Amino acid sequence: MNTVPTTNRKLIAWVDEMVKLCKPARVHWCDGSQGEYDTLCREMVQHGTFTPLNEKTRPGSFLARSHASDVARVEDRTYICAATKEEAGPTNNWADPAEMRKTMRTLFDGCMQGRTMYVIPFSMGPLASPIRKIGIEITDSAYVVVNMRLMTRMGKAALDSLGDGDFVKCHHSVGAPLKPGQADVPWPCEPDPNKKYIVHFPDDFSIWSYGSGYGGNALLGKKCLALRIASMIARKEGWMAEHMVILALTSPAGKKHYVCAAFPSACGKTNLAMMRPSLPGWTVRCLGDDIAWIRVGEDGRLYAMNPESGFFGVAPGTSMKSNPNAMLTIVKNSIFTNVLLTPEQDIWWEDMGVAAPAKGIDWEGKDWTPDCGRKGAHPNARFTAPAAQCPVIDPDWESPAGVPISAFLFGGRRPSTIPLVNEAFSWEHGVFMGSAAGSETTAAALGKAGVLRRDPFAMLPFCGYHMGDYLGHWLSMAKRTDRSKLPKVFFVNWFRKNADGKWLWPGYGENSRVLKWICERVEGTGKAVKTPIGNLPTEDAIDVSGLAMDKTDMQALLAIDPAGWKAEADDIGGYYAKLGDRLPEALKQELAALKQRLAAGK
Ligand code: GTP
Ligand code: SPV
Ligand code: MN
Repeated sequence: MNTVPTTNRKLIAWVDEMVKLCKPARVHWCDGSQGEYDTLCREMVQHGTFTPLNEKTRPGSFLARSHASDVARVEDRTYICAATKEEAGPTNNWADPAEMRKTMRTLFDGCMQGRTMYVIPFSMGPLASPIRKIGIEITDSAYVVVNMRLMTRMGKAALDSLGDGDFVKCHHSVGAPLKPGQADVPWPCEPDPNKKYIVHFPDDFSIWSYGSGYGGNALLGKKCLALRIASMIARKEGWMAEHMVILALTSPAGKKHYVCAAFPSACGKTNLAMMRPSLPGWTVRCLGDDIAWIRVGEDGRLYAMNPESGFFGVAPGTSMKSNPNAMLTIVKNSIFTNVLLTPEQDIWWEDMGVAAPAKGIDWEGKDWTPDCGRKGAHPNARFTAPAAQCPVIDPDWESPAGVPISAFLFGGRRPSTIPLVNEAFSWEHGVFMGSAAGSETTAAALGKAGVLRRDPFAMLPFCGYHMGDYLGHWLSMAKRTDRSKLPKVFFVNWFRKNADGKWLWPGYGENSRVLKWICERVEGTGKAVKTPIGNLPTEDAIDVSGLAMDKTDMQALLAIDPAGWKAEADDIGGYYAKLGDRLPEALKQELAALKQRLAAGK
């Protein structure tokens, strides 16, 4: 063991206890230095976990290939172990906390044999932020350590900031102990899907993750702490932990608005967060691409802060055309997981906007050619990169207070029914819209992709308590501040398709046209028409100058299909019924009012 760099007694005692339980061969307290990062990367190259990329074209960067069973979050193995099943609610998996603690202790007994236990102190949020949270993750994965260094403020500074204070206990093991003499594999994990566990205990806010080394399953600061645990704390303390991007939008006249947007996993947050606007004179600056912690500021407005310090973004589909700023962020010092390796030791993925190499090594480590019939990159392949490298990072992205929000956007992948953009009539109507959000499922979680599911506020997999209470918490923000100070709420859908199954809307940088209208509405100028489902832009309200689109396309994007909306309202009702008596009354009323307006046709 290197020297224990803290005098925090609770921390020392917990690490001692965990060393006894997990029985690692060594313990390493992470200081977060560049030297430590470089050493771990070098060791992972020696062990075959990392492939170094071409120093000329992709300096300081590495490729990792996961085990084929370990490519995404495992929602059906994710648990909220509240005191009762009722507290966890119908949308979370629940297990009895005492039982689950026993299961975890049994699994963790000896789980790190032959491996190093890394102790990772990290902060979610800038160290100076009043709502930053310190976590300590113990893990037997060096891949997790280096990713945590990019994604969080990790190491000595976080430990110093903790002092004698309390921390969130994050237990992680890949679940692959090594017997004496047993050879290691490049990506150790528990291959049996039924033996992976991502467990949260609301009674002490601890996290236990076993069997996976991938993304949100293993980088415990992200979905586990900054969303599931933070949502529980936020509910008690009166703030919000949300699956949202934070971006700044400045008009040609120099007016700056901050916007938060919640879309389900792999539905366009990273793309929106750092978009290059197609509209001349507009600028977008990025503050965060996945998570926002939001609280009422002294002036009564809602302030959002990004608790992360890096991006863990979807690689496939990222190109100089779709997301140039992401491409420029990942030019160096980045980690790529499950992408294709080119003969020049660089990376490639589907829809990268450059020709596929004549041959390569695919995400499973197999020889690959463009005509082999397999994808080169896994659909949920990811890049990890420091946020500070983003060419359009906002100067205030690390502001301890956060930034004041003008608008909330909700959305998802909806091939039909849902218009391009729709403004809520009121806060309650906005919460109704967020609660009714849904999307076709994606590759970001294991399971079937392309099936419509309700995903309220894009938080279905990330809310740490009863979804009905969560919706109530959103409604309660109107009591915590002056209503007039609350952000305006909009629902957007970049994914509406025509009869031939083609996207009706070009998306990406062109989404700036919709953001422009949203800014105009915030400022009270944008043209809108009241409809049964909300305030929609008039047909000429969205600036389509320079876009090859005819009038009928915009009509189709904004069309309200009565039969589709009736089915939509019924489906929302079905979903609401599952939330039982914890569904807030105000939302029942919103649904009833929507049905009435649809029936009346106005
Ligand atoms: P998570 O990191 O899983 O939370 O995902 P995310 O919400 O950040 O999604 P991301 O921005 O990485 O986008 C996921 C996929 O959606 C990529 O393949 C994008 O190319 C695609 N996408 C993003 N924005 C648009 C858009 O405006 N239109 C269309 N058609 N596709 C988009
Ligand atoms: C998501 O699935 O929403 C992600 C990726 O942002 S992961 O970190 O794996 O959760
Ligand atoms: Mn996400």
